[in-house]
Amino acid sequence: GKVVLAFSGGLDTSVCVPLLKEHYGFDEVITVAVDVGQPKEDIDKATEKGKKIADKHYTIDIKDRFVEEQLFPSIKANGSYEGYPMGTALARPLIAEEIVKITKKEGAKTVAHGCTGKGNDQLRFDFVFRKAGLEIIAPMREMNLTREWEMDYAEKHGVAVGVAKEKPYSVDENCWSRSIEGGVLEDPSVHPSNDIYGWTVSAKEAPDTPEEIQIGFEKGVPVSINGKTMKGLDLIVLLNQIAGRNGVGRNDMIEDRILGLKAREIYEHPAATVLLKAHADLERLILSRQELGFKAIVDDKWSELGYMGLIDEPLFAAVTAFINKTQERVTGTVDLVLYKGCVTVAGRSSPNALYSDDLVSFESKTIDQNDAVGFSAYYGFQARMKELIANKK
Ligand code: ARG
Ligand code: SIN
Repeated sequence: GKVVLAFSGGLDTSVCVPLLKEHYGFDEVITVAVDVGQPKEDIDKATEKGKKIADKHYTIDIKDRFVEEQLFPSIKANGSYEGYPMGTALARPLIAEEIVKITKKEGAKTVAHGCTGKGNDQLRFDFVFRKAGLEIIAPMREMNLTREWEMDYAEKHGVAVGVAKEKPYSVDENCWSRSIEGGVLEDPSVHPSNDIYGWTVSAKEAPDTPEEIQIGFEKGVPVSINGKTMKGLDLIVLLNQIAGRNGVGRNDMIEDRILGLKAREIYEHPAATVLLKAHADLERLILSRQELGFKAIVDDKWSELGYMGLIDEPLFAAVTAFINKTQERVTGTVDLVLYKGCVTVAGRSSPNALYSDDLVSFESKTIDQNDAVGFSAYYGFQARMKELIANKK
């Protein structure tokens, strides 16, 4: 039979190719690499490797689709899970959808992936595959494999990967985020060495002069840098460089996975850090207090469902609709300063600002301050009543 394998060219998925034949008895393994903005060398390597070790290989570029269908909505939703901008979580469902398309085209009924039985990715993939009615094979979790065993097996089968035994990290990248986990990093007390980072310099290595940038937003979505209009993908790629060279966007944290396991995860997401900060700031200028308060709850739900990869859960469409409604007015610019690992907002402006310097200014008489006297008389009324009664007893 035929099996379609979600293929990254990394250790797990490379080991899957011979395993699907030897252990599972498939006679045709079709590999699919999906480009969501990981480094070009990685995609090229996956393509080359898939062509070499599988019976047939596809490489599919969905970078723009990923930006428009997942990253833009995530910016509108201030998307973050336990304080970090999700990346892998947002890419998985689209990767799975592309695999499903190839499976149909190839007339196959079975898909395979290299996720372990300990992580989130298995759930995000399986959700989409099961919906499509496909049989799912996940050798790592079914055979309860360790990375150590996989490295030996890969060597024996001539599918060796660039994972050294002394540096056995699992890295997942897309244009929004880079995650590094595993190996010595599994001890949460171990300080990571600087060489695990690929997109950012340390604060110490960053330039001594601050770098200023301006981000333009239209309806909640970034459209320009320093006044130059750009399509989403180009904007994110450029901003990763700008923020990354200033050491912005590193994150070393303990994360609660869907299954309940706590994991030590390290992330780099320079552009995401800047864009989410800028977007949230612009919202504060434009949205009402009621909108902001309610939206924080909705954003949190959007992020939770996004993290879980449940993009077809009916509630996801409903919260997305609410978020889109609020974003109709979120247009304007935000000025930021990048400096040695920090990003701060320096100024913001919007034609839709609810802010009025005329009303709030201590120098202005547009509002008659006497109007507040009556309001103030009632203010805290119930607390005073309580005191009154307590003193009577
Ligand atoms: N913990 C992150 C998440 O659940 C990153 C997962 C990284 N995946 C990987 N196969 N290395 O989204
Ligand atoms: C894996 O277990 O395959 C990677 C980590 C994750 O999915 O969270």
